[in-house]
Amino acid sequence: MALSHSFNSRSFLFSIPWTLFYFISLPLSVFGQNSPVNVECPSSLQGSDLANVVQDNFLGISFELSSFDTLWGKSPLLMPNAMQNYLANLRARFTQPLRIRIGGNSMDSSTFVPDQTQMVILTDPNAYYNDVPVNFGPTFFDVLNAMADNVGEMQFMVGLSMRDPEHDDNVITLANAAREMLGHRLDAMLLGNEPDLYAGHGTRQGYTISDYIPEIGQLLHDINSSSTQEVQYANFVGGPSVCCDWNLDDLFSAGLTQYPYKYYTMQHYPTYSCQGPTPQNTNISYFLSHTNVPTFASWQQTGVQLAKKQGVPVLMTEYNTVSCGGSNISDTFAAALWAVDVGLQFASVGISGAYLHTREYQVTYNLFDPPTPQTSTEQGWRTGSPYYSALFLSEAFSPGGSIVVDLNIDNSTTNPSSNVAGYAIFDANGTTLERLALLNYDGSQTQTFNFGVASNITTKAVSVRIMMASSVEERSDISWAGQTVAGNGDLEGQQNTVYVDCRNGTCQVDVPGPGAALVVFGGSSDASGFWEGNSTIAGLGGYKSGTTRVRVSSVDVLWATVLVFALRVFI
Ligand SMILES: *[C@@H]1O[C@H](CO)[C@@H](O)[C@H](O)[C@H]1NC(C)=O
Ligand SMILES: *[C@@H]1O[C@H](CO)[C@@H](O)[C@H](O)[C@H]1NC(C)=O
Ligand SMILES: *[C@@H]1O[C@H](CO)[C@@H](O)[C@H](O)[C@H]1NC(C)=O
Ligand SMILES: *[C@@H]1O[C@H](CO)[C@@H](O)[C@H](O)[C@H]1NC(C)=O
Ligand SMILES: *[C@@H]1O[C@H](CO)[C@@H](O)[C@H](O)[C@H]1NC(C)=O
Ligand SMILES: *[C@@H]1O[C@H](CO)[C@@H](O)[C@H](O)[C@H]1NC(C)=O
Ligand SMILES: *[C@@H]1O[C@H](CO)[C@@H](O)[C@H](O)[C@H]1NC(C)=O
Ligand SMILES: *[C@@H]1O[C@H](CO)[C@@H](O)[C@H](O)[C@H]1NC(C)=O
Repeated sequence: MALSHSFNSRSFLFSIPWTLFYFISLPLSVFGQNSPVNVECPSSLQGSDLANVVQDNFLGISFELSSFDTLWGKSPLLMPNAMQNYLANLRARFTQPLRIRIGGNSMDSSTFVPDQTQMVILTDPNAYYNDVPVNFGPTFFDVLNAMADNVGEMQFMVGLSMRDPEHDDNVITLANAAREMLGHRLDAMLLGNEPDLYAGHGTRQGYTISDYIPEIGQLLHDINSSSTQEVQYANFVGGPSVCCDWNLDDLFSAGLTQYPYKYYTMQHYPTYSCQGPTPQNTNISYFLSHTNVPTFASWQQTGVQLAKKQGVPVLMTEYNTVSCGGSNISDTFAAALWAVDVGLQFASVGISGAYLHTREYQVTYNLFDPPTPQTSTEQGWRTGSPYYSALFLSEAFSPGGSIVVDLNIDNSTTNPSSNVAGYAIFDANGTTLERLALLNYDGSQTQTFNFGVASNITTKAVSVRIMMASSVEERSDISWAGQTVAGNGDLEGQQNTVYVDCRNGTCQVDVPGPGAALVVFGGSSDASGFWEGNSTIAGLGGYKSGTTRVRVSSVDVLWATVLVFALRVFI
């Protein structure tokens, strides 16, 4: 597995000074291991005018509205401890707010009812499971705020429907409520969920890009005229959230750029299971080959590069393995490795943030599931393999911003027989190599990676954290840095960081197969650069007792009364 001297990074933005490469050959053929892979890495990037600097909160979570109350709770007083911990584990690892999006088809088909006390009411028991309409009330925003109060700052995105712009009164009411109730925590409102499927789904007959563009103008106009103050759209408008049939650049040339967008958004999955299992959506090999990752992540690359020139960040507001609710590979460790690889690849091809999507109970690609939808305040939650990807990615980027480059180690972007992938993570200026992410897709063999450390970097060691499982099919016994998530969303076990000595400018890191390693330069046991500590914020037991920090609305008082009454009756 000798490496070529040609740096085949797909990133054409950088021209790399060849003299700065470190190339080391070491003895091969260790029994029980694949031969070592050499990681060639530039010590700095140049010509990075259009480089994509991502923040440490690159990774977000996306939720479907219809099942949201079964995950976040039905009121600020009933927020499951497990969900608080799941979110706190990620939040603790960022300096920036945790990105949360609530939307999807279900938000597109739902109605905001300002005087409804219940957070979410299902309105159509016979609804198609991929598009469940609900009525939701202001308690929805109370719960978002209460969760951020408890867990730490978050930035929220909500969906505004474009299904019936001629009757947009309810959408306007929702937009005004979101701005009022979320305040600075409102990151964006996304106009229309997958409008490129409106025609195909029969939502809007023969709906095309040229119908859509003027309707955006109409909706923005209506939002502005309903407001007492002049609205600054650029502070909160996002879209088009295309997934499938429309191209971002076609939307730009059709006139989308006339509107002041804060973000352009997309949602994309490599395959789907809308008609049940197929050879494609159960093909675990697809998710174990890095060759498939650049192609997948570069969907809409023309549009993404145009957006960069406009200075508008592009977000992937939904991603996961298999749309329409996953397949039998979606909860495996293979899916966890894939979601890490794709997340890093998104960062390397110009995407500014990516949201792993999670849905109602028992969807296989979920990050987490309550014991049942009715008992989410209890412990006994199931942690899905993609949650471990979220943990990995929550530690991958630096607080000051990062530039990510696919190193194409072992020709992994094109070589189908390669079992590895590697990324370099630079500081925001591209001058300092801060981290490496190394993936080993091999189902059983440890992989040694050799890489050099610039001689003028004084550090003699690197710190390493590993995400691993016993096989690529494993569904629950997965760990990140030695810890596994238990039934209360809490990380169990000793947090484990390995310190690897580098000799004569060369470091050697073993990554178990299957597994992925995050390597931080400047390692020492007192300054590893990794997040250290206990991110569990809500202990075992029933409802959280310390609710004094929770913002209380009239609805909560109602719930509190019910709760106190229940306690009086049952104690
Ligand atoms: C990578 O591909 C190049 C040609 O594209 C080849 O010369 C080189 O040997 C390959 N390296 C490995 C490790 O397969
Ligand atoms: C919003 O409405 C005000 C008053 O009607 C108008 O002056 C302003 O130009 C509008 N702003 C935008 C961005 O459309
Ligand atoms: C499964 O994935 C592998 C690896 O990408 C590919 O070579 C193969 O053609 C795929 N098979 C099917 C049925 O999609
Ligand atoms: C998924 O199901 C297919 C058949 O539909 C089966 O061949 C495959 O082994 C299953 N994969 C896993 C990881 O369970
Ligand atoms: C990056 O560049 C800016 C401006 O050139 C400088 O102020 C800053 O210190 C640099 N940051 C790092 C981490 O080198
Ligand atoms: C190390 O050397 C390289 C190349 O000479 C230089 O660009 C870089 O700034 C140096 N780094 C430090 C920490 O001195
Ligand atoms: C260290 O590396 C240099 C240059 O790569 C080489 O000349 C020297 O022999 C090495 N020293 C040891 C102890 O391996
Ligand atoms: C982490 O903090 C939680 C909540 O304060 C506590 O219950 C738990 O025992 C702590 N875990 C460890 C390993 O210290």
